[in-house]
This record gives sequence, structure tokens and C-alpha cells, in this order.
Amino acid sequence: MKVVESIRELQDQIKHARSLGKKVGFVPTMGSLHEGHMMLIDKAVEDCDFVVSSIFINPLQFNDIDDLGRYPRTFDADSKLLKARNCDLLFFPSIDEMYPHGQDAQTTVSVPVVSEGLCGDSRPGHFDGMATVVMKLFHMVAPDASFFGEKDFQQLAVIRKMVGDLNLPFDVIGVDTCREESGLAMSSRNHHLSAEEKATASNIYRILSEISAAIQDGAKNYLELCEKGNVELAGLGFEPDYLEVRNADTLAPAAESDQNLVVLAAAILGKARLIDNLRIKLA
Ligand code: PAF
Repeated sequence: MKVVESIRELQDQIKHARSLGKKVGFVPTMGSLHEGHMMLIDKAVEDCDFVVSSIFINPLQFNDIDDLGRYPRTFDADSKLLKARNCDLLFFPSIDEMYPHGQDAQTTVSVPVVSEGLCGDSRPGHFDGMATVVMKLFHMVAPDASFFGEKDFQQLAVIRKMVGDLNLPFDVIGVDTCREESGLAMSSRNHHLSAEEKATASNIYRILSEISAAIQDGAKNYLELCEKGNVELAGLGFEPDYLEVRNADTLAPAAESDQNLVVLAAAILGKARLIDNLRIKLA
């Protein structure tokens, strides 16, 4: 695996791969890689001939400076993992390489509606910052396919909408959430949890599963189910942010006739803000 830090070297390497007729897959990350990221790399390796990943902790998508400062930086371990999973090229740019004119004067991408509510409410500016850096990376890499985890369900919806609206000519592939045996969704933010908190954190998945099972059994009282879930989370020591049932295709609040649903949760436990979701197919 080659590691490059400049856009120029990145594009030279990709140009060479393309000249050999290779299909280019792209997995953007912020590092602190875990098995969930590795599933994205595996899927990209399966679908493409040349896999590019990036590690860039994007300041533009952090609305909380402390959160940015705390974000784990584990480049050596990350690059070893990527190499072991047959990633071909790792792009590891500096902040100056990505934002040469500073962040304040940066043109930004804003994806309306789907970025509102849920994490959009509690993390103002987050999705604009995320969409902006992803768009920049898409232009730099110009992939044939890109790969994102379904754990960040709203992020994936924002990226799909942006790619559709701006006619970007490649596929966005969503990859299933990777879970610990306890059901806890793998996340870089789990680093902030103590062993005891990690055990408690798995209750998010249990509560999502219970809501999903109730809905599959015919329950339509979504608000009530979620309110009960939030009370339970609070009783376990979480600070619940949201727990909502939404239409999985549009992310609009779920209507009774919707057949393709998703239940999404965000809650703070100790120093970690955890998110998770479960798809519910009724048809
Ligand atoms: O999901 C992430 O790690 C980030 O939001 C992404 C997509 C790499 C953009 O910085």
C-alpha cells in the first residue's frame, strides 16, 4: 500500500491505475479504524480493482472544538490495518492540503431537508462540513464507487442525496453496521467508553431491536415506543438525544403507511456521543 499526502501524488497514482483499466473504489475515513471500516475496505476490494482510502480528521464537520481535540489519532495502527486488508492507496493529507485558503473562506456544500433533524439538530453545521469534505474528496479521487457505513445512516442519506442532486457519476454503496457480540455498533467513539460503559452502551441496540420487533408485530404507536425507550436509556445513565422512527428512504418522520422504516437513536454516555439505527422492513 502506498501512502500519499498531496493531492497531486494521489491523482498521479489514480491516473496510473486507470491507465491499466482498473475500477477505482473509495473509502473515506477519519481514521481510528475498526472492524466496521475494514468491512468497507473488504467490500471495496470485492467490487473494485484499485482501492483508495483516506484518513482526514475534518475540522469543518466538528461543531465542538473539544470533540475535535479528543478525536483519536492512530495513524500507525490504521495504516497497518488498511495494508493488511489490501487497500492499494492511502491518502493522508494535512489540513493545509485540504483547506489551502483556510476554513472560513471555504465554499461549502449544503444538502437540505435530509440533513435537518436528528444529528442535524444537535450538531449544527456538521452535515455541511461533512458534505463539503466528502465532495472535495470525491473530486480529488473521482472514484467509480464509494463505500460508507450504514451506522451513520443520516450521513449516508445526505451523501446519496448530494451525489444524486449534483449528478456525480458513480455508485454510493452502503455497508451493514458492524457490531460487537453484545450488539454495540462499532465506532471510533467507543474508545471513550470504560469497560462498564461499553456494557451499558449495548442497551441502545437492545432497545432499537425491541422497538423494531414491536413494529414488526404491528405496533403503530411509534412516538410512545420511542418515548418509553428514551426513559429506559435515561434510567440506565444515558443522556438521550433522539430516538425516532423514520421513513428509511426519505428520512421523513414515519407515516402509518410506510413499509420501509428505520429507527434511529443518539445518546450520550460518559464522554461519548453514540449513534445507532436499525432498518425495519414491513412488506
Ligand atoms: O464518517 C466519517 O468518518 C466522516 O464523516 C467522513 C465521511 C470520512 C467525512 O469526513
